[in-house]
Amino acid sequence: MLERKHHRHAGIVAGVMCLVHLIQSAAGTFVGVNFGTDVSDLPEPEHVVDMLMSMGVGQVRLFDANPRILSAFAGSDIQVLVGIPNQLILSVGSSDMTASKWLQNNVLAFLPNTNITGIVVGNEVLTDYTIAATILLSTMWRIHNALAAVNLEKEIKVSSPHSSSLIIGAFPPSHASFNETYSTSVVQPLLDFLCATGSFFMLNINALALYQQSKPFMSLDYVLFRPNKGAQDKDLNLVYYNIFDAVVDAAFNAMAAMNHSELPIVVSEIGWPWMGNPSEVEASIENAGTFNGNLIKHVLNNTGTPRRPGMEINTYIYELFDEDKKVGLNSERYWGILSTNQTPIYRLDVSGSSIRDLTNGSSTPNQSWCVAKREVPDSQLSNALNWVCGQGNANCGPIQQNGPCFSPDSYQSHASFAFNTYYQKTAQVSGSCDFGGTAIITYSDPSYGSCSYSLSATSNMTYDPNGGNPNGSSSRATSNVYGSSYFAQLMSFLSVFLCVFLLEMK
Ligand SMILES: *[C@@H]1O[C@H](CO)[C@@H](O)[C@H](O)[C@H]1NC(C)=O
Ligand SMILES: *[C@@H]1O[C@H](CO)[C@@H](O)[C@H](O)[C@H]1NC(C)=O
Ligand SMILES: *[C@@H]1O[C@H](CO)[C@@H](O)[C@H](O)[C@H]1NC(C)=O
Ligand SMILES: *[C@@H]1O[C@H](CO)[C@@H](O)[C@H](O)[C@H]1NC(C)=O
Ligand SMILES: *[C@@H]1O[C@H](CO)[C@@H](O)[C@H](O)[C@H]1NC(C)=O
Ligand SMILES: *[C@@H]1O[C@H](CO)[C@@H](O)[C@H](O)[C@H]1NC(C)=O
Ligand SMILES: *[C@@H]1O[C@H](CO)[C@@H](O)[C@H](O)[C@H]1NC(C)=O
Ligand SMILES: *[C@@H]1O[C@H](CO)[C@@H](O)[C@H](O)[C@H]1NC(C)=O
Repeated sequence: MLERKHHRHAGIVAGVMCLVHLIQSAAGTFVGVNFGTDVSDLPEPEHVVDMLMSMGVGQVRLFDANPRILSAFAGSDIQVLVGIPNQLILSVGSSDMTASKWLQNNVLAFLPNTNITGIVVGNEVLTDYTIAATILLSTMWRIHNALAAVNLEKEIKVSSPHSSSLIIGAFPPSHASFNETYSTSVVQPLLDFLCATGSFFMLNINALALYQQSKPFMSLDYVLFRPNKGAQDKDLNLVYYNIFDAVVDAAFNAMAAMNHSELPIVVSEIGWPWMGNPSEVEASIENAGTFNGNLIKHVLNNTGTPRRPGMEINTYIYELFDEDKKVGLNSERYWGILSTNQTPIYRLDVSGSSIRDLTNGSSTPNQSWCVAKREVPDSQLSNALNWVCGQGNANCGPIQQNGPCFSPDSYQSHASFAFNTYYQKTAQVSGSCDFGGTAIITYSDPSYGSCSYSLSATSNMTYDPNGGNPNGSSSRATSNVYGSSYFAQLMSFLSVFLCVFLLEMK
């Protein structure tokens, strides 16, 4: 049978392939976020992408393959994991043709503009959707083979998240093993698959549930990454100071027992609800802020775990928004780290990490500014600046010599100011902060010293042929400074910009 053949194939190449992939995957550790859509007032996907970029989030996991959302990620630097929901596994995995068709419609159709880096087949199938347990692995192989048929198997990895409850005897971690019901029939060949294809093991951790089960033996400090006495694993003579490390090492030890200690572990879901049922006292705003803030700092610090110090454990926080349309306990619904209605839920102390807290202070997500991206070369910014101060009619007076925003005298700074005036002029319409991909929306006020970045349109910024400046001189002066090769550059730049704009208007 098909699955058998695949398993044998995996067994033969596993040893060699794993080493190769280990060397290749040497990128920095990241914290991404799960983006579920069971949300009653879901913002426009473009707005969500802007929010993620503004937070410094570079990786997102979707639970399905919503085309509207996948399109919104186009042109962003965000890496996207696309999901095959449990309910679709039986149909998508029923033949090579169905798998390849799913891939075509839900992944290939969005490449290369949307950077899809992984396909997640099902979620917690072995504990939550066992009807698909026997077809899970063959579905993963079929998707992988369909990727290989178009030479994308190296760029796009296939995996499947498992609940930490699949791991039995996780405390102490050295005693952990996979549930015997599935260990030889599914888990072993699944690990072989991950190894052979250079993929990673995905682990979902519900820290609150684990705490609730083990309350008499476990302190809340241990769960929330706060200072505590630690828990000893006597067999390996290791001390654990938080539940995250303990569960990750339990998974590691369980995999090592199956000769797959080389596989990277990605924590695909972990977070904390900020509200629960009355009995769920630990589901609180304070604990959610503490847990998620400490988690982010812990992961990005690259501390690794006691078993594997320094190991990268890429992690996806569960989750971006509250999924209020979900049924079940309150604590199923209130895991969001951002609210959709522009008000902060709680403060996330992520100081010292690359993640930014949008809920910090006065800058709420509906107040946005447009600035130049940091890594864009001056030559591109110069083109964009020519356009925005010329044809774009932005008020560029303040960045002229002696203007309040002239200093610092850099393309980065001048373009940022000009982009923002244009963006505000268009009433922050989606797509008006692009400028050929050189601009990005920010939710923190870029104003400094005497230079004030406006938040809304003023009468200075109309489409008046004189540049809209009552003085009539400012925009001409601007053209002298930034407009030297104005016409030469206009066409290429304008076409890109207009395309974006017209698409938005449709
Ligand atoms: C997608 O992300 C990967 C991983 O970081 C990166 O190597 C690649 O260049 C990105 N592709 C595009 C088209 O941006
Ligand atoms: C192992 O999985 C089976 C099937 O889901 C389940 O019935 C059993 O309770 C699990 N074993 C343990 C020890 O959790
Ligand atoms: C792991 O490898 C050892 C040594 O090669 C072997 O004896 C053992 O059977 C393997 N275990 C599994 C679960 O494959
Ligand atoms: C960060 O890593 C250093 C060195 O490994 C360690 O001493 C420190 O406790 C870590 N901090 C956090 C917040 O994990
Ligand atoms: C964000 O929080 C930090 C730490 O509390 C504080 O110092 C900083 O001023 C805050 N930023 C804003 C914009 O409020
Ligand atoms: C942001 O939203 C809040 C609440 O809806 C509102 O009071 C505030 O004026 C808005 N800010 C801007 C800049 O639109
Ligand atoms: C127009 O711009 C000038 C200089 O930038 C400023 O002083 C003036 O207040 C602006 N006019 C309005 C109506 O905002
Ligand atoms: C208008 O022109 C005067 C005189 O040239 C100049 O001092 C002033 O800065 C200009 N105002 C604007 C808004 O550019």
